[in-house]
Amino acid sequence: MPNDVVTMDKIVSLCKRRGFIFPASEIYGGLHNSYDYGHYGVLLKQNVIAQWWKAMIQERDDIVALDSAIIQHPRTWEASGHLAGFSDPLVQCLGKCKRRFREDHLREEAEARGESTDHLVCPVCGGELTEPRAFNLMFETTIGPVKEDGATVYLRPETAQGIFLDFKQVLQFARRKPPFGIAQVGKSFRNEITPGNFIFRTLEFEQMEMEFFVPPAEAPQWHEHWLKERFDWYVNLGIDPEHLRLRPHDADELSHYSSATSDVEYLYPIGWSELEGIANRGDFDLTQHAKFSGEKLDYVDPQTGDRYIPYVIEPAAGVGRSMLAFLCDAYDEDEIGGEQRTVLRLHPALAPVKVAVLPLLRKAGHPEKARAVYEELRRHMKAEYDDGGAIGRRYRRQDEIGTPFAITIDHQTIEDDTVTLRDRDTLEQERVPVEGLARRLLAKLDPGVV
Ligand code: GAP
Repeated sequence: MPNDVVTMDKIVSLCKRRGFIFPASEIYGGLHNSYDYGHYGVLLKQNVIAQWWKAMIQERDDIVALDSAIIQHPRTWEASGHLAGFSDPLVQCLGKCKRRFREDHLREEAEARGESTDHLVCPVCGGELTEPRAFNLMFETTIGPVKEDGATVYLRPETAQGIFLDFKQVLQFARRKPPFGIAQVGKSFRNEITPGNFIFRTLEFEQMEMEFFVPPAEAPQWHEHWLKERFDWYVNLGIDPEHLRLRPHDADELSHYSSATSDVEYLYPIGWSELEGIANRGDFDLTQHAKFSGEKLDYVDPQTGDRYIPYVIEPAAGVGRSMLAFLCDAYDEDEIGGEQRTVLRLHPALAPVKVAVLPLLRKAGHPEKARAVYEELRRHMKAEYDDGGAIGRRYRRQDEIGTPFAITIDHQTIEDDTVTLRDRDTLEQERVPVEGLARRLLAKLDPGVV
C-alpha cells in the first residue's frame, strides 16, 4: 500500500463526495468502466496534462506537438497490426453465471494465490470455462448513413499511430532531424471487458504519448534516457520514489511492435501495476506504414546522405492512471484538535485550487473584503471563495481537495489590512499584509505552478 491509510474505496468515495470523478450514466444505472470528471477532477486532469506538456515542450527543444484525428483511415490498423493482433484471450463461464473473463488475468490471479493454472474455473460461480478466444479491443463504427454500405472505421486504441502517419509532414514543417520527438495528448478507446478498478482501466481514456525518432544505433541509450526522465517526472510531482519502480517486460509480454519495454509501475492500493509503458518500437511502425501506404518514410541526412528508417522510443502514459497514482499518494488522514481530517497532500502544481479565501463572518465587512482579495488573487492563480459554514469545516473542505493555502479575513483585516495565511501541510498560520499577497503566494508555490 502507498501508505497505511489509503484504500481504493476511500479514493473512490472522496472522488465522488467532492465531485472529482463519478460513474458515467449513473441515472441509468451506470456503464461499466466509464467515468465522468466533475469540476475538481477536470482541474486536476488539466494540471496533470499541463505538467506533461511542460516537461515535453517547454523544458526541451527537441519535441513538437501534434493533435491528430481519432478516426483514421482503416488501413492504419492493418498496417499497425492492431486489426490482427490487438486482442485479449476471452473465456466465458459455462456454469451458472455465464460471465466473461480475461484468461490471462485469471491465470495471473491463480499464480498470485499460489494455485495451479492447469484447470482454471469461473472465479464467481466455480463453473467450467470455454476455451480462450481472441477478442479484438478496438471499437468499430461506420462512416456513412447506412451501416451495410458504409466504410468500417475504428476509434483509435492508442494515439501513437496518428503520429506515425504524420511523421513525414512534421519532418518538413518542423525542420527537425532525428533525434526528435512528436508529442500528443488525446482520447483512446478500448473495449475492456474486465472490471476496471475505478479509473485504472476504462473504455475511453486519455493518453499522453511521445514518439521519439532516433538513429537506430542510438535507440538503447535513448530508451535509458526516457526511463529516467519519466520516472523522475512522477517523483518531481510528489510521488514517493518508494512507491514507484521500473519493471522490464519479459519476452512473452512484449507487444507485437516492441523489442524492449519497461513499465513505470506504481504501488496502487490494488498492488504494483502499470502506470506508464516505455517501449523501444524499433522501425516497426514506420516500415509498416511505408509498406501499406506506398510513401517513403525514411530519413535522409542532408550532411552525410545516410538514409535510414528511424527507430522509435515511446513513453506512453495514461492521464487517468497518473491521476489515480497522484491521488493515492497524496491521500492522508490526521487529527486536528481531536477531529479527524482527510487531506490530499497534492503537489501545488497539481492541486485543483491553489488558494481559498474565507471570510470569518458573513457580516462586519468580511465578505466584501474577502471578495476583493479573492478577485485580486484569481488574476494570478486558481482561487476559490467560500463563505458557507463554520471556518473549521471550510478548512476541512479545502484540505480534502488538496488546496495548499487558505486565507482568512477577520476583524483585524478590517483594522490593519492583514490576513491569516494557513498552510495545508504544516497547519501553520502567519499574519501577512494584503499588500503583496499574490507575490508572496507565487513565491511559495514552486516555479511554473500557475
Ligand atoms: N502506444 C502504446 C500504448 O498504448 P499501452 O501500455 O497499451 O501502450 C499506455 O498504454 C498507457 O495508457 C498505459 O500505461 C496506461 O497508463 C494507459 N492505458 C492503457 N489502457 C488503458 C485503459 N483501458 N484505461 C486507462 N488507461 C489505460
